[in-house]
Amino acid sequence: MDKIIIEGGTPLVGQVTISGAKNAVLPVLAATLLTQGENEILEVPRVRDVKTMVDLVQDLGAEVDQHNGSRIVLDTSGVHKTEARYDLVSTMRASCLVLGPLLARLGEARVSLPGGCAIGARPIDLHIKGLEALGAVIKLEEGYIHGTAKKLKGAHHYFDLVTVTGTMNVMMAATLAEGETVLENCAREPEVSFLAQVLNRSGAKIEGAGSDTITIQGVTSLRPIECSIFPDRIEAATYMIAGAITGGEVEVLNCLPDELEPIVLKLREAGVDVAVNERSVKVRSHSPLTPVNIRTHPYPGFPTDVQAQFMALMVLAQGQSVITETVFENRFMHVAELRRMGAEILIDGHTAIVRGIKRLSGAPVMATDLRASASLVLAGLAAKGQTLISRVYHIDRGYQEMEKKLSKLGASIRRVK
Ligand code: EPZ
Repeated sequence: MDKIIIEGGTPLVGQVTISGAKNAVLPVLAATLLTQGENEILEVPRVRDVKTMVDLVQDLGAEVDQHNGSRIVLDTSGVHKTEARYDLVSTMRASCLVLGPLLARLGEARVSLPGGCAIGARPIDLHIKGLEALGAVIKLEEGYIHGTAKKLKGAHHYFDLVTVTGTMNVMMAATLAEGETVLENCAREPEVSFLAQVLNRSGAKIEGAGSDTITIQGVTSLRPIECSIFPDRIEAATYMIAGAITGGEVEVLNCLPDELEPIVLKLREAGVDVAVNERSVKVRSHSPLTPVNIRTHPYPGFPTDVQAQFMALMVLAQGQSVITETVFENRFMHVAELRRMGAEILIDGHTAIVRGIKRLSGAPVMATDLRASASLVLAGLAAKGQTLISRVYHIDRGYQEMEKKLSKLGASIRRVK
């Protein structure tokens, strides 16, 4: 099990380039199952979750002709298996994204129910309800979801809750259903819009992605996917906060500032200087931090995936801030670890009250989930002394070469086996 060791206290200075968005490439890989031919995906981030998803589609019968670095070429003509193995699904919940494409392509899917994870139960009942609305018959048997569908039919469906992968799953299935599908109360995340654009370039007829109502006219087949993954807004936000928390000057290159609005505004409210350009953002932080309240919310609200990182920043603000997590039921796993570094944080249900302190102190801490791990790295960069983070495989799931990118910015950070 790798560990990361950080000697904190150095202001980060320089430029960092953002990689492709993990949460955009995972659905695109699932969407290749809707096609029959050679798909090419560029700007793929080198993170573990991508490898897991490639292993999964390969296990279903796709031929991976190439997966070197940031380019994937995979031929899905031979997709014939309908079962997503437990050992693959249990490590990554996003594997459930193959449900919709398999039902649409092969008329059957057997996908292990994803285990819960650190941040909550994370059921997929809304995915199932949406697919049943399209005519799929879905049973739960021995921990597997078993769905069959002679031919999916378009329907008018309303999501009880805003769900990002739920929206994606049903939208993908609807592209090959008979007739028109109208989905209401959809997730508006940029990754949903990105997926719709990619599918439309392959012949799908999707309108309204990015709004809460998406209309899909079913087609009989889709051409193979060719796309280049857009930058990861959560990775960008993480490095912006790294610049702020260390009192440095960090320029984040290859990002889409329009999608970073909540983070830009909240950093400015905290007294951080944020300059926005076409495809980059420059963060400068030389004055004391002002406490800022945040409340996570589906896009375009403050992203839940940046809550832990922003909390680390607020630990060093001059006063009290209130952080409310409205999306997941248990996304404060980083709090206990931040406390070990001296943070003063009270939790009351979904709300964390952060009392700013002067300085964090390095300590041995443990990563629990992807974004909590990022928050511990940020705290370690700002802390006095050494921080040792264990279970860093969580970080490797969603951040490409994090310690290399941070070292380039002047951080004293290294990975040890
Ligand atoms: C996606 O997860 C992201 N993952 C998550 O990023 C992100 O935190 C989340 O959206 C919210 O933005 C991927 O895109 C691969 P949801 P997803 O369905 O789709 C409940 C990261 O760090 N819900 O929008 O699984 C659910 O429990 C990851 O990169 C149901 O109750 O999230 C949660 O409370 C973490 N039933 C809320 O809805 C369902 O059927 C939102 O979940 C589906 C969801």
